[in-house]
Order: sequence, then C-alpha cells, then structure tokens
Amino acid sequence: MAASYRKIDYRVRPAKSVERKMLAEILRKLGEFGRLEDYRYIGFGSLYFSDFKLFHRLLGFDSMISIENTNEPSTRQRFDFNIPYRHVKMQYGLSTHVLARLDWHQRTVLWLDYDGNLDQTVLTDIETVCIKAKPGSAIFVSVNANPPVEHDEEGKQLPVMDALKSRVGDELIPLDTKPNDLSGWNTARVYRTIIQTKIEETLRKFNGVRPAGSRLVYRQLANFHYEDGARMLTVGGVLFEADQEHHFSRCDFQKLPFVAQGADSYLIDPPFLTFKEVRAIDASIPLAEADYGNLSIPRADVEKYMKVYRYFPNFIESEV
Ligand SMILES: C[S@@+](CC[C@H](N)C(=O)[O-])C[C@H]1O[C@@H](n2cnc3c(N)ncnc32)[C@H](O)[C@@H]1O
Repeated sequence: MAASYRKIDYRVRPAKSVERKMLAEILRKLGEFGRLEDYRYIGFGSLYFSDFKLFHRLLGFDSMISIENTNEPSTRQRFDFNIPYRHVKMQYGLSTHVLARLDWHQRTVLWLDYDGNLDQTVLTDIETVCIKAKPGSAIFVSVNANPPVEHDEEGKQLPVMDALKSRVGDELIPLDTKPNDLSGWNTARVYRTIIQTKIEETLRKFNGVRPAGSRLVYRQLANFHYEDGARMLTVGGVLFEADQEHHFSRCDFQKLPFVAQGADSYLIDPPFLTFKEVRAIDASIPLAEADYGNLSIPRADVEKYMKVYRYFPNFIESEV
C-alpha cells in the first residue's frame, strides 16, 4: 500500500482535526500523574506533523518522537526537512522495531495513528507499550475500522471472519463474533474489544509477579468513532500502578463529555457548514430554544455543531 502521506493531507480532515483537540483536552488532565512538560510524546507525525504542532503548543511537550516507516534516504530527507521544531526527533522504521529499541524511562503519551486496519503490528505495538511504558503513561491507537478484506493465493476474496483471523489470529476474537458483527460500525466495536482484551492479557501476564500496589492498571478514556472518508476508531487510555488510583481519580476525566470509559463509543461528527453559518451560530451561543428557529440552518446540523464547536476547524487556503 502506498504510504498515506502521499495521498492524504492530514491537516484538512475535519473529524481528525476535532479528534486531535479532544485528545489534547484529555491529555491536559494527565498532569495529576506528573508535570505535562516532562512527558514525552511519541506519534506518527506524517509529513505535516499536525499532532506534534498542536500538542507542543497546547501541552508543552518538549521531547517528541515521530515514527515513520521508511528507510529510503531521499524520503527521510523530506521528513527531516518538515520537522516543525527541534524538539521533534525522527525515528525511522516500522513502529514495532522502533518501539522495541526506545528507552522508556520517561512518562510517555503515545498516539499510534495507523493507516490500516487492526493487525498483528498494532497488537504487538500495544503489547510492547504495556510492558515498557512508565506508569502514568497514556496510549491511544487509531485504526481504519472498515471490515477487513483479504484475498487467498488465487486472488479470491476471503469471507470476512477468515480475513479478520488472518490479521489478528484466533485467540483475541470474541467467541460469539459473527460475520454480521463485521459490518458498518460493528467492525469498530469488535476491534475495540480485541484491543481491550490484548491490553488486559498483557497486563495480566506482566502483573503476575508484581506486588499488589505496583500492578499496572489500564483505564480507557477514548473510544472515538469518526469518518472523514474511511470509518476510523481511536481507542486508548492511561496505564498506572494500582497505588496511583488517587491520581487517576483527581484527573476527573469523566468531566469531559467525550471521554468514553467502556464499550459505548463517542461519535465525532462535525457538520458541513459555511463560515457565515459558523459565525451566526457562534454569535448566538449559548443557544436558547428560540435561536434554533431563527438560524436558517437545519437543527440537526446546529446540534452537531454544538457538540464540537470548541474544537471545530477553520480551514482556509493560506500560505504561512
Ligand atoms: C495517519 S498518518 C498520521 C497522522 C497524524 N497523526 C496527524 O495527526 O495528522 C500515519 C503516518 O504514519 C506512518 N505509519 C503508519 N503506520 C506505521 C507504522 N506501523 N510504523 C511506522 N510508520 C507508520 C504513515 O506512513 C503516515 O505517514
């Protein structure tokens, strides 16, 4: 598959833009575990480094690592050229190799924002992070949540359940999964369950020999569904030691309306509005019931906008 940065300008995807800002708000609350400025950020910045720029500006991360899967010298040069701040260091190679060779003494926020569906690479990366990350670290994973498609050696498309098994193996797929569970948004639900099970299994093995207070716990914070073209799932949360439960409570994550701590997802669904419409709604916030009738915008779109207006992107053509 051609690398996505050749096909997609990640700066102009509205739902992803909202997602970045919502993630930033979640991350801001991590400060109860340690100074945010002292966290390291690991992500896949692509050519545009949109997540790196936003998180550096809003959260003050100074230590940042962007992973990119290329070993081609001229492509590397292009990524190096686009690094937005000296704080950002590139690590080239597949995430699985890079994550295994990094040092993990620093508390870390990871956003592994993959191009493809859930597969063994993603699951191996999750395992590495769960084993190596310092308590108080946070991991978020984004995957394409369209139903998996695989072909046999003769080029014939495999049944969807076989396609899923060939990508993630047998063990993590919930026993009662049926082909119908891999249609529409159901695929994202199955993927979330598989990721959750992978994290729980890894922690169970890892915790076996540890004293009760220092056993690692995972609490989910994000379960976003969104669609800028393909259906996407972002799931993740914080890893901490059982003795740090009071830090977790003080973070008050559940105060954010988009924080999702279980199987129920939060749909990021920004409406399509003109700038004039955006300005008209903004000027009426907080909206009273009568305002809905006065705006010449479908009520459903106004309601969608109200859920995301603090994170709504303003895309204009510009050269900066
Ligand atoms: C979806 S984009 C990242 C977008 C970015 N997070 C943002 O907020 O705009 C994914 C980038 O990571 C690279 N990539 C995807 N999977 C990877 C992997 N497993 N290891 C290393 N790089 C990967 C892709 O080539 C692409 O440049």
